Amino acid sequence: MKVFVTGAAGFVGFHISKKLLDLGHIVVGYDGMTDYYDVSLKRKRLDILNRYSTYDHVEAMLEDAEKLNASIDETLPDVLIHLAAQAGVRYSLDHPETYITSNIVGSYNILEAAKRTPLRHLLIASSSSIYGANRTMPFAEGHKSDWPISLYAATKKAVEEISHSYASLWNIPITCFRFFTVYGPWGRPDMALFKFVSAIERNVPIEIYGEGKMKRDFTYIDDLVESIVRLMDIPPSERNRVQPEDALSPVAPWRVVNIGGGQPVGLLDFIETVERCLGKTAQKIFLPMQKGDVEITYADPSLLQRLTGYQPRTDLRVGVSRFVEWYLSQILPETPNTHPQSRRHT
Ligand SMILES: NC(=O)c1ccc[n+]([C@@H]2O[C@H](COP(=O)([O-])OP(=O)(O)OC[C@H]3O[C@@H](n4cnc5c(N)ncnc54)[C@H](O)[C@@H]3O)[C@@H](O)[C@H]2O)c1
Repeated sequence: MKVFVTGAAGFVGFHISKKLLDLGHIVVGYDGMTDYYDVSLKRKRLDILNRYSTYDHVEAMLEDAEKLNASIDETLPDVLIHLAAQAGVRYSLDHPETYITSNIVGSYNILEAAKRTPLRHLLIASSSSIYGANRTMPFAEGHKSDWPISLYAATKKAVEEISHSYASLWNIPITCFRFFTVYGPWGRPDMALFKFVSAIERNVPIEIYGEGKMKRDFTYIDDLVESIVRLMDIPPSERNRVQPEDALSPVAPWRVVNIGGGQPVGLLDFIETVERCLGKTAQKIFLPMQKGDVEITYADPSLLQRLTGYQPRTDLRVGVSRFVEWYLSQILPETPNTHPQSRRHT
């Protein structure tokens, strides 16, 4: 199959593209290499993808509709996986415009292109943050998600709704998946695991928001990739409606699916796991909740399980130690002012 992946140089896009290439698919990646975090990390991910003769890369922004359309027309993909976005809740407080252009305008350009392209399936990344101020746990796809508390979440929710209208108007099979705090090797430097490991390694205190009371449903990257690869083959349709509850639209080939393990972990337990894997204790600074952050994310993964027979299962200790191993071998040796030392992981 030919798969067009936006955000291919990003954390999730890199892993999905690599998996698809390993499975023998042809992949065209599209990424604007934005400088939200260190672009050299994106380049290193790309270096790995470029080793495959079946990988092709287009470096351009989603907002460049002409380039995007030309790339999709030239590729004629069977499946399009749309991951490129301005991620991050906290950054949206100071850089709101990037979320409107990348997430809203960028996704609109993808949907316009999808209108003209006979896709078997369009898959779009959404986020657990859209559950916002919803208090009913665990979060199921049918729950209210009308109260986003960050602009990031609001743009993700808007894209879900805009994509439903395109699915309905133009009969495009679309699955939106709500990711729950994805972590693993080649992860994002703005996310907690990367920040904690990097700080603890350098003996710098770590900042713990929400006084350590927050909980997150962490999803290991390989579990996420496996879920997406399985969902790729299940374009939403009445033929694959599952019981008892499905988030399949009653009027369009459109569905939303949580991808999370359903096992939220307290921030302090998470930090303890990181400390054990590093064999070092963190110096902790406790801070209040930051604006836009939700206290807890907790996935109900039963729809994913019913559709694919799969749900995230990697033990947190295993996932964190794989990240630490990657960090110590790939990132630490290149980080200035650090003292690399070999250490046994537990
Ligand atoms: N990682 C998580 O825990 C998580 C959780 C929920 C949702 N998501 C969503 O999953 C998707 C992938 O996230 P990620 O963690 O890989 O993030 P990432 O920042 O590592 O990857 C996104 C990629 O998209 C590219 N990009 C951003 N804006 C662009 C634009 N306007 N045009 C072209 N390229 C652009 C960036 O250069 C980057 O390489 C995003 O849509 C994100 O919102 C991620």
